[in-house]
Amino acid sequence: MNSAANPLRDAEDRRLPRIAGPSGLVIFGVTGDLSRKKLMPAIYDLANRGLLPPGFSLVGFARRDWENEDFAQVVHDAVREHARTEFREEVWRQLSEGMRFVPGVFDDDDAFENLRATIEDLNKCRGTGGNYAFYLSIPPKFFPTVVSQLKRHGLSDAPEGSWRRAIIEKPFGHDLTSARELNAVVHEVFQPDQVFRIDHYLGKETVQNILALRFANTMFEPLWNRGYVDHVQITMAEDIGIGGRAGYYDGIGSARDVIQNHLLQLLALTAMEEPSSFDARALLTEKLKVLNSVRLPADLGLHTVRGQYAAGWQGGRKVLGYTEEEGIDPHSRTDTYAAMRLGIDNRRWAGVPFYLRTGKRLGRRVTEIAVVFQRAPHSPFDTTDTQELGQNALVIRVQPDEGITIRFGSKVPGTQMEIRDVTMDFAYGESFTESSPEAYERLILDVLLGDANLFPRPQEVERSWEILDPIEEYWDAHGTPEPYAAGTWGPAAADEMLARDGRSWRRP
Ligand code: BG6
Repeated sequence: MNSAANPLRDAEDRRLPRIAGPSGLVIFGVTGDLSRKKLMPAIYDLANRGLLPPGFSLVGFARRDWENEDFAQVVHDAVREHARTEFREEVWRQLSEGMRFVPGVFDDDDAFENLRATIEDLNKCRGTGGNYAFYLSIPPKFFPTVVSQLKRHGLSDAPEGSWRRAIIEKPFGHDLTSARELNAVVHEVFQPDQVFRIDHYLGKETVQNILALRFANTMFEPLWNRGYVDHVQITMAEDIGIGGRAGYYDGIGSARDVIQNHLLQLLALTAMEEPSSFDARALLTEKLKVLNSVRLPADLGLHTVRGQYAAGWQGGRKVLGYTEEEGIDPHSRTDTYAAMRLGIDNRRWAGVPFYLRTGKRLGRRVTEIAVVFQRAPHSPFDTTDTQELGQNALVIRVQPDEGITIRFGSKVPGTQMEIRDVTMDFAYGESFTESSPEAYERLILDVLLGDANLFPRPQEVERSWEILDPIEEYWDAHGTPEPYAAGTWGPAAADEMLARDGRSWRRP
């Protein structure tokens, strides 16, 4: 019986691990932090889980005087320090045999010829089949040079029967105009289905679980609308400062760094309608539709806030203020905190505010989506009975402590009718034995498999800039960010912004 005629067989097949076929990955920007802390460990973890083909090959391209062995040593150290899974000598040996290094700068034709020869050699000795993904983990100003070099040296065109793909890291532009320019540059060389834009939040298990929670269950969706929801809070708080990333961060700031991408993607997944399937095109349709319905507040001064961290205390030690950090202009007006109220003009969400906030050097690291429900329309209890009762809430804990919390009122045991908030918790760590893969493991594997579901399309990226641009322009023209002490929950103006609406931020 063929598998198409046998639904049981189909179901079993889908449960088999998805393993990449013959392939290799070339990383530009291989000496950067992202590569060392995330990409190299993710590749090892994939190999360790048996999800890469035996001949998988990794090519680093950078301006370093390295031999293949030096590069393999760098990957080795990164893996030992940052990999999620245990180190196994036999896995490492097989993986490291396919590591090559190509020294050079981006406009060096000889280096790209060398890259071409390296790939041809790997096709022969490792059986990579001509299937290569090029990971551009480099500042966008270098995109035009690198993609045109790939074209010129015949690397972007897949030989018959094989594939070539480009993986593009954020920041994808710094406003709508630059994002459009970058899209045009990339699409001059690569077809749309060859391009994979990374938003690593979409690779997180908890973020994909938003769709499972909403669309695989019946008990949430009936409440998921203006009839029951009072407002939604999306928080991405970090306790770290900008570390060694002054060059990237200054002049960019928190809203461009994470609201334009991660937080607007979270908003889209939380607010969109059910897609007709879980494939890239269907997801794009729904995400784009809801992003197109996003409305900015009429008064940007009242309903957006930006802040900048000043010196303070964090984890028991004194930390510097943003403008005292190494490499930062002492007069910098860059925001390290941003909060805003967005509306969604559609039948489901009209009148329901979506509050977004993010910041560095806040009280603790936490990302969550809190759907806060309206109070009961009528209460048969005395007001004294419900003094300690808040609003019902469903909180998707993206990280850390991944899980979902539902908050509701319960009677306190005793002779009186006293009702207080309690919580019901689902924690990944308790329900599942396997730890969640890192976002980059999932996303790199998806690229090798050609699965584009979890990658934002250019239309979403451009629409997100369209939402953010007027806010950035307003901020540029009006004053400076409000200072907040490191280790606190951001500027007072952000609390005032919610207080004016009769609400308050959650203190996770
Ligand atoms: C990146 C931002 O996209 O996300 C960083 O550029 C931020 O500034 C990081 O620190 C946070 O990622 P995660 O997965 O630790 O929440």
